[in-house]
Amino acid sequence: MGLAMKPILIVHGGAGDIAQSRVQGKLDGVRLAVREGYRVLQHNGSALDAVEAAVVSMEKDENFNAGYGSVLNLAGEVEMEASIMSGENLDVGAVTLIKDFLHPISIAHKVLTDSPHSLIGGQGAKQFALDKGFPMVPQESLISENAQAALKEFLEKGGEFGKTEVGIAEDGVGTVGAVAIDINGHIAVATSTGGMTGKVVGRIGDTPQIGSGTYADDNIGGVSTTGHGESILKVCLAHSIIKLMESGVDAETATKEAVTAMTTRLKNTAGAITLSKDGDVGVYFSSKRMSWAYIEDEKLFYGIEQGEVLEENYVK
Ligand code: GLY
Repeated sequence: MGLAMKPILIVHGGAGDIAQSRVQGKLDGVRLAVREGYRVLQHNGSALDAVEAAVVSMEKDENFNAGYGSVLNLAGEVEMEASIMSGENLDVGAVTLIKDFLHPISIAHKVLTDSPHSLIGGQGAKQFALDKGFPMVPQESLISENAQAALKEFLEKGGEFGKTEVGIAEDGVGTVGAVAIDINGHIAVATSTGGMTGKVVGRIGDTPQIGSGTYADDNIGGVSTTGHGESILKVCLAHSIIKLMESGVDAETATKEAVTAMTTRLKNTAGAITLSKDGDVGVYFSSKRMSWAYIEDEKLFYGIEQGEVLEENYVK
């Protein structure tokens, strides 16, 4: 066996026109999530378990558009989606149109490990989750005041979609994601979302679609995306970044180039977090803000504004 890799984990808490009033909650939330995920890697856990732990942390946190705090569809319901991928053997698991469970990412992980299928939706996903022992929660328990206010504002302003997943609401929140490399050099990526405020019932976005919201390949790297789903899936944004890296472009440049190309072509915004197989980091967003954080070498880096890189010591 070769030398152990240095573990690294990066998370995002969503791209969008995030209101100033939501900034601190998101920064606190991504710092908590990156610690939760990194702890798994420090205990020699797998990249898959680490990205799940990081995303679970944000699914519990109403500062983010995933799990509790997910935005609402036109019927006022939560309909969530999530995907997870292993770069070791390209195994994938994804769920969509989930309404009754707090942690869609854990169900997606179960699809990866226990199902012959890749993406399960709606009633079938609910049955799969129940068969695997996931506890149902009342749908109302997933609905936050912010999500209700965002839908109200969306409807009052005529139900027009904004340029990002957070719609036009000031109190919009963001999709979450995580990318990790474990000590064995395996890469995993997880992404989870409530989608966009005011979406039609049954709408499926980029997040559960492998290659759009999520991609991992141990030979190249891993990417999780966030932003305007209908645009992200048209350019298969996660896989576009992977292909650029495969052609020799570094993680940061590949992330910036692919996100910029999408925004130039389709006039909507997005963001992405990327790790190369060597642990190089890429963070880029064409939206106003995107919260992100990563831990490497006992340092925790994080930010939310364009060009911002804050730093603190990571204490185990
Ligand atoms: N990027 C999340 C969505 O549009 O559903």
